[in-house]
Amino acid sequence: MCDYLFSVDGVARLRPQTLRHLLSSGYDVIAPLLARPGQAWSNFWGAIGASGYYARSTDYMDIVSGSIRGIWNVPFITNCYLVKMALFHTPKGQEVSYVKEDVDPDMAFCNSLRDIGVMMYVSNEEDLGHLVNHETFDVSRTHPDVYQVLDNKLEWENRYLHKDYLANFIDGQKPRMPCPDVYWFPLMSPRFCKEWIDIMEAFGQWSDGSNNDKRLEGGYEAVPTRDIHMNQVGLERQWLHILKEYVRPLQEMVFTGYYHNPPVSIMNFVVRYRPDEQPSLRPHHDSSTYTINLALNTPNVDYTGGGCHFLRYNCSVRDTRLGWLLMHPGRLTHYHEGLPVTGGTRYIMISFVDP
Ligand SMILES: [Fe+2]
Repeated sequence: MCDYLFSVDGVARLRPQTLRHLLSSGYDVIAPLLARPGQAWSNFWGAIGASGYYARSTDYMDIVSGSIRGIWNVPFITNCYLVKMALFHTPKGQEVSYVKEDVDPDMAFCNSLRDIGVMMYVSNEEDLGHLVNHETFDVSRTHPDVYQVLDNKLEWENRYLHKDYLANFIDGQKPRMPCPDVYWFPLMSPRFCKEWIDIMEAFGQWSDGSNNDKRLEGGYEAVPTRDIHMNQVGLERQWLHILKEYVRPLQEMVFTGYYHNPPVSIMNFVVRYRPDEQPSLRPHHDSSTYTINLALNTPNVDYTGGGCHFLRYNCSVRDTRLGWLLMHPGRLTHYHEGLPVTGGTRYIMISFVDP
């Protein structure tokens, strides 16, 4: 027979030391404090109201935020907890039970513990994990995780930000500048790039490359590409959040004194270049204050040729890097063209920021 029951719901994310920490506490019923990062939502109640439901205790926010640390006696725990099995082998009339009329199993369980006078505890002595938010997780999407930038920031950043993203902000570091006033930053992980392409190809409705474009307000595109707009795949809100949270701070480092928060961008799209479809793009100005161009795949691996040529400076960026972002001024100085792709398929993610 086992000594303990360790109950873990799907929304709980635990640190490696969590179970050992709970066992060493010596308590019969103890939960690790788990909360949604940056929110008040957690896996315990600080107090209980007369109706038997949640009530906020005066110390609740201090415990959740970690501004006070310890092991706390609480009236309700859920999502993840450790229970001594001996509690389930009690005399009649003293049973611990998950069953009670009109309440869910967690409520019934905590209710029965309270009825027989067994104390339950929550520990925030150290960081023991957190809760994910499953409410907007949409399994009908291709790669639903990539849509979670607003609701599960911690997981999203671990999966999708480039491993060198934070190094962009190291003091005294000069950003790379492959052409005059064209800046180059690591932004997204290889996984992000792969999933972003998968989403577009699963959707599959690439524009026809003509000047008539029903997706645009005026119905006319002067310099058309084969592309898919973010609002066609339900990623507009997420992409604008990425622009605000992760791209704007980079922009503020290099185009000094230009401050526009949140960035506005109406045209956010993935372009597909390939020899048998549209291999290149003629010289043009972008209708933006600045433009970003994220490489979603790799030259000489996924395709040959390609790149961006800035005519005024006679300067090209051909050796683009997976997940790296090119950022350049838009409508005035950086007249540019897309160089021909000679084999394979090249994918880039483009935004015309502050049009
Ligand atoms: Fe352009």
